[in-house]
Amino acid sequence: MLNFDYRNPTHIVFGKDRLAELDQLVPANARVLVTYGGGSVKRFGTLDKVITALGDRVVFEFGGIEANPKYDTLARAAELARRESIDFLLAVGGGSVMDGTKFIALAAKFDGDSSSLLHHGFNPVPVTEVLPVGTVATLPATGSEMNAFAVVSHQGGKFPVTHPQSFPVFSVLDPSLTFSLPKIQVANGVVDSFVHVVEQYVTFPVDARVQDRMAEGILKTLIEVGPVTVAEPENYNARANLVWSATSALNGMIGSGVPADWTTHMIGHELTAMFGIDHAQTLAVVLPSVWRVRKEQKRAKLLQYAERVWDITSGDEDSRIEQAIAATQAFFEQVGLKTRLRDYDVPQERIADVVAALEAHGMTALSETGDLGLDSSREILELAW
Ligand code: NZQ
Ligand code: ZN
Repeated sequence: MLNFDYRNPTHIVFGKDRLAELDQLVPANARVLVTYGGGSVKRFGTLDKVITALGDRVVFEFGGIEANPKYDTLARAAELARRESIDFLLAVGGGSVMDGTKFIALAAKFDGDSSSLLHHGFNPVPVTEVLPVGTVATLPATGSEMNAFAVVSHQGGKFPVTHPQSFPVFSVLDPSLTFSLPKIQVANGVVDSFVHVVEQYVTFPVDARVQDRMAEGILKTLIEVGPVTVAEPENYNARANLVWSATSALNGMIGSGVPADWTTHMIGHELTAMFGIDHAQTLAVVLPSVWRVRKEQKRAKLLQYAERVWDITSGDEDSRIEQAIAATQAFFEQVGLKTRLRDYDVPQERIADVVAALEAHGMTALSETGDLGLDSSREILELAW
């Protein structure tokens, strides 16, 4: 096992009908900015319940945070937070709203051009004071409700941002708040969660048995509940298991002490930025090809994955690996996501532009060993087309 530090300060408030507890979770004298997206939380009544729970606190609202939140929008919210001396941010929405709000929390206290905060990658941004953020998560997918990451879109790129104080103080996870999601967003959540797990698991073995078995447990859960929760949006138990799988996939636990390979995410981010394809759909397209191109580097873990997650034990090694990749791809299709680049109307000749964007964004040494260059990214994209 590799050395690691693990710290996760987010208080999870899980279960049905718990929004009223916001009254205890948010400081009594706080000036609160409630942030949300394009309006789903208004349409389905969640925002009203949140505002009611906040009682007689001074509350401001900032709506309109778009999917793949844009820097310019978030900078306007940060300006509002400064102007109104906000001291608590409450994000009500999916990953985009939670991520966007984490960025607002950093930018509101930052003197200077906050767009500079987009250029620190996975290193902490140089900010000394961060507004506290709570979340009411309405879409199980990103894990943003229990991690310190945000992804912000700006000028044709998607930029990771993080800071040790960017963990939400609390996150309310009420599976029933997610019943209103369209099927495609549920499918996106299943696949995003699945890929978060495998990017921390299908690397090379370091004898991290707890992490491996937790990862396998989440994957098997997603395989069981994914199709059920897509087909039966109001099946509480299936949805509850999806919600907790999504959070557990990217809250740092299974990633402690093991290598990680974020190649699929990094290539996927370029596809979202360039073609507007939903985050999870880019992952469904890229992951199978990453595994096919990197079969030798990942051989031992792909074989473990085949056996322990899909119960594939017959055939020679290469055949077992290919069966596991095909099963993964079929699972993504089964929940409702297409897995070829051409399914999303991306012309094959645009692959060169994606490779150029990877280069422009410094994504030239990807993978768990940092040896995946632009030629391999091109090969992955060609194979995915
Ligand atoms: O904007 P509204 O009107 O709220 O509608 C949203 C949006 O259109 C809708 N929605 C959310 N909850 C709903 C609902 N509709 C009905 N009922 C509900 N309960 O769903 C649509 C998509 O929402 P969005 O927040 O964009 O989706 P998701 O949660 O998948 O977040 C995607 C973003 O997270 C980033 C992605 O890059 C992308 O920007 N990621 C963040 C990560 C992190 N913080 O660790 C890791 C991920 O890998 C990912 O990169
Ligand atoms: Zn993701």
